[in-house]
Amino acid sequence: MGKKKVRIGMVGYKFMGKAHSLAYRNLPFFFDLDAEPVMQAIAGRDEAGVKAAAEKWGWASYETDWRRLLERDDIDAIDIGTPNHMHAEIAIAAAQAGKHVICEKPLSMNVKESLQMLDAVRHAGVVHMIGHIYRFAPAIQYAKKLIRNGELGQIYHVRAVYLQDWIMDPNFPLVWRLRKDVAGSGAHGDLAAHIIDLARFLVGEIKEVTGMMETFIKKRPIGEMTGGLGAAMTSNQFGEVDVDDAVAFLARFEDGAMGTFEATRFAKGNRNGNRIEINGSKGSIRWDLENMNNLQVYLDSDEPGMQGFRTINCTESEHPYASAYWPAGHIIGYEHTFINMMSEFIKGIAEGRSPAPNFEDGARNQCVLEAVERSSASRQWVNIQAEI
Ligand SMILES: NC(=O)c1ccc[n+]([C@@H]2O[C@H](COP(=O)([O-])OP(=O)(O)OC[C@H]3O[C@@H](n4cnc5c(N)ncnc54)[C@H](O)[C@@H]3O)[C@@H](O)[C@H]2O)c1
Repeated sequence: MGKKKVRIGMVGYKFMGKAHSLAYRNLPFFFDLDAEPVMQAIAGRDEAGVKAAAEKWGWASYETDWRRLLERDDIDAIDIGTPNHMHAEIAIAAAQAGKHVICEKPLSMNVKESLQMLDAVRHAGVVHMIGHIYRFAPAIQYAKKLIRNGELGQIYHVRAVYLQDWIMDPNFPLVWRLRKDVAGSGAHGDLAAHIIDLARFLVGEIKEVTGMMETFIKKRPIGEMTGGLGAAMTSNQFGEVDVDDAVAFLARFEDGAMGTFEATRFAKGNRNGNRIEINGSKGSIRWDLENMNNLQVYLDSDEPGMQGFRTINCTESEHPYASAYWPAGHIIGYEHTFINMMSEFIKGIAEGRSPAPNFEDGARNQCVLEAVERSSASRQWVNIQAEI
């Protein structure tokens, strides 16, 4: 019996387009699942660009209008790697066309859109996921196992930061990520969304928040993203930056833990500093994306004199996903988190269920994002109202 084929149609072909393409290509190489992805078609507006991407990354065909992907009956699932303002429109149309959907984060521009997206996928009965890839680092999965097994005891503190520095030059152009009408928010939806997801995954739901947001550089020359986090000026005109450069907020979790969160693109020297520390009554964990295979663990149960943070290289067969790759100690990297995530998406489609993180997680995340925005504007604590 041949494996079930899941024929993918992907929209967007720059940073995430590259990461997702690599994941689909390498998934069957490392994972032996009952189903496998087929890189059926990629969509983008610029024909020369989308054709070149299709050829380079191994897509069988291309389209210059994403709507064509939905009309094709040789496509089972839609992968959305476009800027945030397009997520809702594409995801809802895809669900209505009966296609499974994986959508990049943040799920949408606001809670209202996220709830409409959740409603659409539930109503259509299609499988859905959101691209919070950092959950799929083996070290994070192992931290989750330690917390679930009670190794850290009662959780008191969550301390999460996501620090970057790529837009600090005042001449860095005004790209879509710095425009509210396209991105929804700045560092908040881009970076804080990721650490909110890690915190929700590891510790649980957030009950209330109070936060502040700041825009340090208010005008920039007009430009566009060129792939990865690169950008180029396209005009000498300046435009207004109407999203946050940085956000910080306090959070109270439903189980009583307190959280501090900070996300910024103005932390000089921090290229991709996604870090989380969790302290419980019996132990602590620490993780840093830039050293992503390692998990630091402190356990009170260690004998006196031997106590201290130990560093576990999460490449052993006990560490989720690690054994799909190399022998212990032969480390993996950023792109493998995407392969791990796609393995869940393809398995979910084969089994008819939506693995976490899915649109429900995306919508809950959006409720936290929006509550922080409201708190920053009102200077008040805001309750998270998640009617999901
Ligand atoms: N999971 C992660 O860690 C992660 C990392 C980076 C970006 N993202 C998310 O992925 C999404 C894409 O970000 P990116 O960094 O790849 O952006 P990018 O600017 O590198 O690429 C965006 C792509 O979308 C295409 N596009 C834009 N409007 C379109 C339209 N109307 N129709 C068809 N294609 C269109 C662009 O041509 C480009 O190919 C965003 O939602 C972003 O927040 C997630």
